[in-house]
Amino acid sequence: MAKEGVEKAEETEQMIEKEAGKEPAEGGGGGGSHRLGDAQEMRAVVLAGFGGLNKLRVTRKAMPEPQDGELKIRVKACGLNFIDLMVRQGNIDNPPKTPLVPGFECSGIVEALGDSVKGFEIGDRVMAFVNYNAWAEVVCTPVEFVYKVPEDMSFSEAAAFPMNFVTAYMMLFEVANLREGMSVLIHSAGGGVGQAVAQLCSTVPNVTVFGTASTFKHEAIKDSVTHLFDRNADYVQEVKRISAEGVDIVLDCLCGDNTGKGLSLLKPLGTYILYGSSNMVTGETKSFFSFAKSWWQVEKVNPIKLYEENKVIAGFSLLNLLFKQGRAGLIRGVVDKLIALYNQKKIKPVVDSLWALEEVKEAMQRIHDRGNIGKLILDVEKTPTPLMANDSTETSEAGEEEEDHEGDGENKERMPFIQ
Ligand SMILES: NC(=O)c1ccc[n+]([C@@H]2O[C@H](COP(=O)([O-])OP(=O)(O)OC[C@H]3O[C@@H](n4cnc5c(N)ncnc54)[C@H](OP(=O)(O)O)[C@@H]3O)[C@@H](O)[C@H]2O)c1
Repeated sequence: MAKEGVEKAEETEQMIEKEAGKEPAEGGGGGGSHRLGDAQEMRAVVLAGFGGLNKLRVTRKAMPEPQDGELKIRVKACGLNFIDLMVRQGNIDNPPKTPLVPGFECSGIVEALGDSVKGFEIGDRVMAFVNYNAWAEVVCTPVEFVYKVPEDMSFSEAAAFPMNFVTAYMMLFEVANLREGMSVLIHSAGGGVGQAVAQLCSTVPNVTVFGTASTFKHEAIKDSVTHLFDRNADYVQEVKRISAEGVDIVLDCLCGDNTGKGLSLLKPLGTYILYGSSNMVTGETKSFFSFAKSWWQVEKVNPIKLYEENKVIAGFSLLNLLFKQGRAGLIRGVVDKLIALYNQKKIKPVVDSLWALEEVKEAMQRIHDRGNIGKLILDVEKTPTPLMANDSTETSEAGEEEEDHEGDGENKERMPFIQ
């Protein structure tokens, strides 16, 4: 991977601190690279340590250069996913060391090619997966994780595309084998993956989609989902009232007691896929109680019961498939199919809102508050909306200890640009 690891980040931050008097003010938005001595540098979001929103800051870091097999991308937009909240909290298996630059996907323009890179040219418009480090003005990532962006796809759409649509496509078509006439249950139906699932279901004839979402989203998403329920409703009863036999596919990103509920809703030969654990996020910082509760509530499945009931149970993790299990080739094939669907105008990323890098805390707060419909995008060239009095968003220094306030909601009076 590119030489932008922790050591280099720390070194660079020390350099910046030494040169602090000469530095341009942070948070100017609008981007552009700067020089610090001989080193070219860039703006990036840095997570100083695991915890609340106050662990995030925008800082200047040394710009990475592409290694053999990598592309250097001048980033235009980055995807903000639910998993980024879990990373911030340290609510994931084997969390990496901090400080780190978060983010797993971005779009932008190819600025340089590492040795042995083929199939791309400088100036290409691309979208890419990155194994962390996406929330920066410049990113380097191996060529196997980079895809060309269709001509009429905007950079924000492109940053909203890979994670949500590849996840949705692989679950529906590679794992669960969605076919004509089937039914699907999806939670968080108004979110990034939820909307991608709903759109992909509409590409297959006569598919019934059952969805749960916060009620205020129902009006906005009602055309994409056949039957919508409030997220707090007894959805097992509601589904059974409409379809006594249940559903063919359950996509569960919540975990906890939803696992047992999902399995109970499966028709014979139906497939349950666990692909997230949103229930573990109950406040701004990691809650060991929610973690333990969610783990404890998961139905312990006996394979003999699955055999008797003709049920399939599966798990799906795109990041593991990409970065740990070497399936980039398989995923490239999926991206090709998705781009074809986009070009045929059958799918289109739903972008909730655009945020400057400096507004990352407010953007994350919007997800904590369940306010998003579709995907949040960090727009690298966006100028932050001026702060209201008493707002202290640009506060923390990397490594500085600050008190975390679980569920601290007294955030942020900025108004994002809503599409
Ligand atoms: N396994 C994979 O490869 C993979 C890939 C991508 C995403 N995922 C998972 O898929 C799920 C959706 O991801 P996404 O990035 O598209 O996010 P998203 O659905 O846009 O996430 C935000 C929405 O999730 C719902 N939600 C559920 N529990 C929540 C909680 N504890 N706190 C705040 N909101 C909560 C809220 O909608 P409502 O209030 O309307 O329910 C909220 O608006 C996440 O669990 C994520 O980890 C998995």
